[in-house]
Amino acid sequence: MSTILISGAGGFIGSHLTDALLDRGDKVLALDLSRKIPPNLRDAGRRAGFQYRFCDVKSQASVRRAFATRPDAVIHAAASVGVESYLKTPMSTIESSVIGTRTILRAAMKTNTRLVYLSSSEVFGRNPDVPWSETSDLVLGNPAVTRWSYSASKGVCEHLINAARVQYGLPTAIVRPFNIYGPRQRPAFIIPITVHRLLNGLPPLIYGDGNQTRCFTHVHDLIEGILRCLDRDAATGETFNLGNPREWSIRDAVRLVSEAVGSSLEPIYEDPRTTFGPGFEEIQRRSLDPSKAIRLLEWQPRIGLSAGIEDMLRWARAHPEWLRGSGGIDSALRAI
Ligand SMILES: NC(=O)c1ccc[n+]([C@@H]2O[C@H](COP(=O)([O-])OP(=O)(O)OC[C@H]3O[C@@H](n4cnc5c(N)ncnc54)[C@H](O)[C@@H]3O)[C@@H](O)[C@H]2O)c1
Repeated sequence: MSTILISGAGGFIGSHLTDALLDRGDKVLALDLSRKIPPNLRDAGRRAGFQYRFCDVKSQASVRRAFATRPDAVIHAAASVGVESYLKTPMSTIESSVIGTRTILRAAMKTNTRLVYLSSSEVFGRNPDVPWSETSDLVLGNPAVTRWSYSASKGVCEHLINAARVQYGLPTAIVRPFNIYGPRQRPAFIIPITVHRLLNGLPPLIYGDGNQTRCFTHVHDLIEGILRCLDRDAATGETFNLGNPREWSIRDAVRLVSEAVGSSLEPIYEDPRTTFGPGFEEIQRRSLDPSKAIRLLEWQPRIGLSAGIEDMLRWARAHPEWLRGSGGIDSALRAI
């Protein structure tokens, strides 16, 4: 039995990680920004081996106190996530990412604690040379365009982590998730927002022509990949693109959700530059080469998009509070 510290544990991915670790008998020290146990962790809060603490990962004192519990490993998932965040509050996006990661990293280095970092497929930016392998280049736009602040800050964090590994021998693994979706996700990303709108009787919303592509990955598949990075020596010092290699256009993914709901509402197409400002830049294609994760982690996603959407629908119908909540209708929908 190990004790795993999870930053950002109250979020979508962090809460699923918490559940999975508790399920297998590990202890979890969950950190997040709210003073009370976040709603996603309420069930976990009733389970043995679970502890929650308010902790801003930018605060050295707070992070130091959390590491004083001597966790066996840390999964660093805390970040300011979503299009709204990086367009409207780029300072917070960059600071929570870069300062937060530096603080976690310093504490991990002091105690030589294994660190698994959740980066993002966003680091590849608009590299047109798809599918991306782990060694593909990061091709980002100009720093004057806030759209790239999230991608750039995740890239800097990867540099910091690799530097700690090279310079001080810290055992690390970096995960780049590709368009994760599933239960508990805020309706501010393409799959949950489409589910949310359709179940509320609203037509789907598509920015641009819908031909841009993404690799949608169910959260349970991602969690299995992260746990392998945590457990396996083969992951130490490595970076992994974790995603479902099946590439979907946004238009087809939205159609799949509509069919699953049984809705005939036609999508509304909006110009993203009207919604997000003239500087908005689209990533036309996003796809990955999964071979490294298959080889080193023996990991492959198992949940196809149709089955994943059915799972999300079941969950959404059983959670009217999620359906009643703000549908991200005014918020951006492009998935990270
Ligand atoms: N969801 C995806 O598709 C996706 C894709 C690629 C990468 N990621 C990465 O995975 C991680 C988790 O993403 P998510 O989808 O669960 O997002 P989320 O917004 O649901 O969860 C992030 C959590 O981090 C917390 N947080 C933010 N700033 C913090 C701080 N300073 N101190 C402590 N906690 C803080 C938030 O309160 C939130 O609970 C992030 O690092 C994100 O960049 C997610």
